[in-house]
Amino acid sequence: MPVAQTDLPLRLLRRGKVRDVYEIDDESLLLVATDRVSAFDVVMRESIPHKGIVLTQLTAWWLDQLETRVQHHMLTAEIGDIVARVPHLEAYASDLAGRSMLCRRARVFPVECVIRGYISGSAWKEYSERGTLAGEDLPRGLLQSEKLPAPLFSPATKADEGHDENISVSRMATIIGRAESAELERLTRSVYEHGSGVAASRGIIIADTKLEFGYLDGDVKNGFDSSRVILVDEVLTPDSSRFWPADRFEPGRSQPSFDKQPLRDYLDAERRAGRWNGESPPPPLPREVVAETSERYLDIYRRLTLSPLDLGAMA
Ligand SMILES: Nc1ncnc2c1ncn2[C@@H]1O[C@H](COP(=O)(O)OP(=O)(O)O)[C@@H](O)[C@H]1O
Ligand SMILES: [Mg+2]
Repeated sequence: MPVAQTDLPLRLLRRGKVRDVYEIDDESLLLVATDRVSAFDVVMRESIPHKGIVLTQLTAWWLDQLETRVQHHMLTAEIGDIVARVPHLEAYASDLAGRSMLCRRARVFPVECVIRGYISGSAWKEYSERGTLAGEDLPRGLLQSEKLPAPLFSPATKADEGHDENISVSRMATIIGRAESAELERLTRSVYEHGSGVAASRGIIIADTKLEFGYLDGDVKNGFDSSRVILVDEVLTPDSSRFWPADRFEPGRSQPSFDKQPLRDYLDAERRAGRWNGESPPPPLPREVVAETSERYLDIYRRLTLSPLDLGAMA
């Protein structure tokens, strides 16, 4: 059964677009990825079967590989270990299995660390209108979706509602500090270098991705301590990244995406037909669109990890 929302006997810290975040104690959190789906910043009424499990298991799969490059927040994503640590979750184990991650709790830096290997989305929008990104010049003559000469670190503010705003690296440094900003950029580049390389070997382009980092609080008087920075949230998932099939890549147009394309196409058609104004509430989704989207998430998991998601083991 898809899980649209959870209600656990724990303090709910936040219900995001996709994740329910619960407090375990001062040092740890339980992050539960539900099957909620959003498109064009609107959360749909329907949930996408298995989507939350794909997001959590893919994040866990990446974090294991990234351990030599970056410290991260994952303590465990195995339901047996989670219940062993928090026994009163036993009764909820079947809903939580696969989609939950016990995490180290951090103070999240208030910037989204976006890195772009290809120009798309909000970056393409600004560039095509003004030739810039966050007000700074980019090379001339780039086509839509074209590969950038080198990956571009392109931070954004975290907007609670509406769209995030792209900011320059120097603006980021004023918000979180110079040393902090440089360290987050270095780590972001390292994660993208690894992730885009692995994905390329599976025929997948990671056009861009968004990372979040946190700081493990300690003695703040001693200034910034880079050994306290950890990678948090979700990592290199279809929700936080643009995944494009490499064999269909063609600059000069928008690219089909691996995951939400059936959903986006449906919503676009509804909009063009004047049946939806692009805001909440969204139109109801036909069953086929839900099923196709679910297939896409499972497919991306299988393509990247080279083995199908073991749903039996999650039950
Ligand atoms: N280790 C962590 N410590 C503290 N907060 C975290 C950690 N990992 C993720 N978060 C926060 O939990 C929330 C995840 O919920 P999500 O549904 O992704 O929210 P959003 O709608 O903002 O994307 C985000 O606000 C993220 O910053
Ligand atoms: Mg999020």
